[in-house]
Amino acid sequence: MSTNLSLRVLGPADSALHPAYCDYVAQVFIQADFRRWCDWQQWGEDYRAFCLFDGERVLANASAWRMRLRVDGVETEGFQLGAVGCLPEFRGQGLARQAMQAALAHCGDAPVFLFCNETVLEFYPRFGFSPAPQHLFAADCVATPEGAPAPIVDLADAAVRDAFLRAAAAARPVSERFAARDYGRIATWYAANGYASPLRRLDEDTWVFAQAEDGALLIEDVFARGPVDVPAMIGRLIDAPIHSLRLGFTPERLWPRAVAVGVEDDAGLFVRNLAVLAQPHRFPLLART
Ligand SMILES: CC(C)(COP(=O)(O)OP(=O)(O)OC[C@H]1O[C@@H](n2cnc3c(N)ncnc32)[C@H](O)[C@@H]1OP(=O)(O)O)[C@@H](O)C(=O)NCCC(=O)NCCS
Repeated sequence: MSTNLSLRVLGPADSALHPAYCDYVAQVFIQADFRRWCDWQQWGEDYRAFCLFDGERVLANASAWRMRLRVDGVETEGFQLGAVGCLPEFRGQGLARQAMQAALAHCGDAPVFLFCNETVLEFYPRFGFSPAPQHLFAADCVATPEGAPAPIVDLADAAVRDAFLRAAAAARPVSERFAARDYGRIATWYAANGYASPLRRLDEDTWVFAQAEDGALLIEDVFARGPVDVPAMIGRLIDAPIHSLRLGFTPERLWPRAVAVGVEDDAGLFVRNLAVLAQPHRFPLLART
């Protein structure tokens, strides 16, 4: 291996190095891509990538996103790790460990968490992480279209993105149990990759990612500044009758009748310096990096 390894910490100003980061991600993760998200200029101050470079190439990385968390009713600053990996041909040489150690030094004693895939369940405990469960929430809900349909908007449009980010920055956390605020730039990553439900704008301050399928409405996330009249909202989100709801977050505030219907088997949540609630909860799907 080359001895010219150097650790570089990439932030939003390092746009000349973002393509190298995107190439690394594309080689390590089949389903993750940062190119469109970077083109959309979504890399913000809260996101730092701890990259091991060999020349122009990123060999290994661990990224940390500073999060404004809500944990059991308390506002807490923490970090979410993501894009942890190493190029296949350089694995087994301690490179991911170096990147992880740099990212964790940045996090200090703050709570840190991440959502991982099943191939690394034994990897994160080496760095002081413990697994924690996530739950699925659903409710019976008979509803028909009512009121003015909320228009579907496209985050590929820069003006829409700006308006969405403003609303997301002002939105209150969707849950008190384990959630976050001001993570619009994570939600735009899902949209940039085609992984988010359609985004509907109910008004300037209320934006909802939702999608109906076979009579079940998945409300993936709600970005709203104030209280939401959910029954009225549902009527505006659907164009055919529904019989049930599924929620991408803990719905104790928005739809208290929803119940935990099981464990989210493939969530892969790991936590460090973070006491998670015994009560069922689901960190918002579109806030996961
Ligand atoms: C998992 C991964 C990051 C490890 O990278 P790496 O550079 O080979 O890891 P390192 O050489 O730094 O290994 C550090 C330690 O973790 C161990 N380790 C490596 N991969 C592991 C795995 N998948 N599960 C458990 N332990 C693992 C190593 O044996 C080593 O242990 P040691 O210090 O006792 O010798 C790499 O295989 C990868 O990129 N996988 C695909 C991407 C991915 O799934 N990332 C996680 C996203 S959530």
